Amino acid sequence: MDLILTHEHFKKICDFVYDKSGIHLKEGKEALVQARLSKRMRILHINSIEEYIKYLDNNDDDEFANLIDVITTNTTSFFREDNSLKMFEKFIESWIKKGKKKFRIWSAASSTGEEPYTIAMIINELISKYNLINHDIKILATDISPTVLMKAQKGIYSIDKIKNVPAEFKNKYFCKIIKDDIKCFEVKKNLKDMITYRQFNLLSEKYPLNGPLDIILCRNVMIYFDEKTRNTIVRKMHNLIDSGGYFIVGNAESLAGRAADFKLIKPAVYQKK
Ligand SMILES: C[S@@+](CC[C@H](N)C(=O)[O-])C[C@H]1O[C@@H](n2cnc3c(N)ncnc32)[C@H](O)[C@@H]1O
Repeated sequence: MDLILTHEHFKKICDFVYDKSGIHLKEGKEALVQARLSKRMRILHINSIEEYIKYLDNNDDDEFANLIDVITTNTTSFFREDNSLKMFEKFIESWIKKGKKKFRIWSAASSTGEEPYTIAMIINELISKYNLINHDIKILATDISPTVLMKAQKGIYSIDKIKNVPAEFKNKYFCKIIKDDIKCFEVKKNLKDMITYRQFNLLSEKYPLNGPLDIILCRNVMIYFDEKTRNTIVRKMHNLIDSGGYFIVGNAESLAGRAADFKLIKPAVYQKK
């Protein structure tokens, strides 16, 4: 089946994706959307884009989740953008040194789990280093896509996916398993238990958690949003962060219109004023 995506079809899909997720599919992405939609339609045995759009209208939330999965990029990796993770480590360490034991962290748009597991490893190392007892540490990891959340909860990664994990952490935090005849690595239970996964759309009116939070990581998702959406999200995150807490975005992202609410510590790393 050769899917031909007209300008009107592209616009209809773009409007739907934007309304539901805030993701702004830019002009010029027609070929990418066409290729990815074709794949989805083959799975559904749907032969025309009109039929797919009708299907989308009738199966709203369920098909929306699948559409988001094929349209968005879930690219992530362990220890990604470690410039800001080093700052993350520094903040937690300095709080521990001051006697803080309760930490609330949110990995918003956590994709397949590499980001929350990375911060859990960083925190766990500090717990051991400072022999921290009676601590109360909670990491919330959310994403709009149920598919990536399911993968995150399973915590099973190929050898290639864990290539950035330091060698000593591979044994400490992962078990070797065989999945579909392939050698893989599964995150150990103690690390999994540090994280709560929830589906959450950053566009939602009401945010699913009560602050105050110590650190929010919202990395490499706001690039898909327009400025108005980004400003709304950053304002809501600002309300949730404790005073003196931190907000970490992706290296290619900025706070645009809301920057004045934060103090820039390093590129991509902000502190609530
Ligand atoms: C490129 S990944 C970023 C993963 C991780 N934060 C990182 O930096 O490696 C972007 C993630 O944002 C999620 N996403 C896209 N729109 C969203 C929305 N409106 N609400 C919540 N998550 C969203 C996607 O499902 C995807 O998993």
